[in-house]
Amino acid sequence: MKKAFIGVYGCQMNVSDAERMEGQLGTIGYERTEAMGEADLILLNTCCVRETAEDKVYGKIGEIKHIKERNPNLIFGITGCMAQKEGEKLIRRAPHIDFVLGTNKVHELVHVVKGIQAERGHVVDVSIGETELPEGMPVTRGGKFSAWVPIMYGCNNFCTYCIVPYVRGRERSRLPEDVVREVEEAVGKGYKEITLLGQNVNSYGKDHGKADFAELLSRVDAVPGIQRVRFMTSHPKDLSDRVIEAIRDGKHICEHIHLPVQHGTNRILKAMNRVYTVEKYRDLARKIRENLPEASITTDIIVGFPGETEEDFHAMLDFIKEIRYDSAYTFLYSRRSGTPAATMENQVDEACKKRRLSELMDVQNGISREINEALRGKTVEVMVEGASKNDDEIWTGRTRTNKIVLWRHGAEAPGDFVQVRITQPQTWVLKGEIQ
Ligand code: 5AD
Ligand code: SF4
Repeated sequence: MKKAFIGVYGCQMNVSDAERMEGQLGTIGYERTEAMGEADLILLNTCCVRETAEDKVYGKIGEIKHIKERNPNLIFGITGCMAQKEGEKLIRRAPHIDFVLGTNKVHELVHVVKGIQAERGHVVDVSIGETELPEGMPVTRGGKFSAWVPIMYGCNNFCTYCIVPYVRGRERSRLPEDVVREVEEAVGKGYKEITLLGQNVNSYGKDHGKADFAELLSRVDAVPGIQRVRFMTSHPKDLSDRVIEAIRDGKHICEHIHLPVQHGTNRILKAMNRVYTVEKYRDLARKIRENLPEASITTDIIVGFPGETEEDFHAMLDFIKEIRYDSAYTFLYSRRSGTPAATMENQVDEACKKRRLSELMDVQNGISREINEALRGKTVEVMVEGASKNDDEIWTGRTRTNKIVLWRHGAEAPGDFVQVRITQPQTWVLKGEIQ
């Protein structure tokens, strides 16, 4: 077997795409290695949502130059969002890259690698036309019990800060029967937890009209043997009552909604082209809590969007305190050329952004700790993942609400469902005792 190193950056969609790349490479004799130095093929599946993600990849590209000098037969390709955005510029800047394959071209990987094996040379394919969705691609999943299943690709929303719609194209939904078939296959192989993926899962099916997201959720929930159904990401403008009801009525659909708010003032939300108002978001959060009292709500927040004043920032903090998220991913606004926000006036300076980010994180951490504190003494259902990073005796898993739980290992095995009584809730994790 030849060896392939696949570096993955960015979101779960990239993890999922990489599993499909690995599946395809398996059909032409490559198995995955974690050691870049011993690889016959190196793929970097990249992200460009923030500048820091791109910087990491450029660092890696530099490192690979030395590996390629020692091993000229090495094949080196860039895939994913940065590949789509930069195209052949990448090869001009770093000629040791053999190929650049865009986000819509995952299914062409075998073809491209074989071509390069045969005659070397460079290949760049970043066309993004309205091609049919590739179905039936082989997939080599990273997890044993949790599987990612993409249900749609692309995004139509054009939030003014975001590069994703430019590098992933317009929304295209897979057919419900194709999604359900993939879920059935995964469950048949022993997967217990399925996460449905899309940039905005709530607009699933609007293009083909065969089923909406609520219906898809119910159909996946009904797959025999499935234990947990998760989904990401929800856009507040499209999260319908039907979806909330489907979660409530589903047996296996986990009570966790990742509902990026991005900001907490109408002025900035409008400038971000988020389409909803704080009033509408507040209503939605209330509806979720009324129908799903156990649900956790998590979010993404950006600080330092152009024109964000101290007053806007404090109004946002107040909104965060009002909604009370279980946890939040917080980001410094990163200027992405080609997006409308990149050319807006009143860009916020870095030092100010950093100060605001740290203030926001302090506020959110306090809220997360308080919410978790309420779980002290309670018993929660956990799907066992395995030993934690730092200690073989301490095992980890997640609650239905997607909280990380740690406990001293007994006889349980990965993939088991266990009851854990929470004894030491913390900001990021819940420590407990297995019951
Ligand atoms: N700068 C900072 N954060 C961004 N995100 C998207 N674009 C940018 C940007 N230009 C964040 C959003 C999104 C998450 C995946 O990344 O919060 O929800
Ligand atoms: Fe980017 Fe907005 Fe689409 Fe999310 S919904 S991927 S933030 S454009």
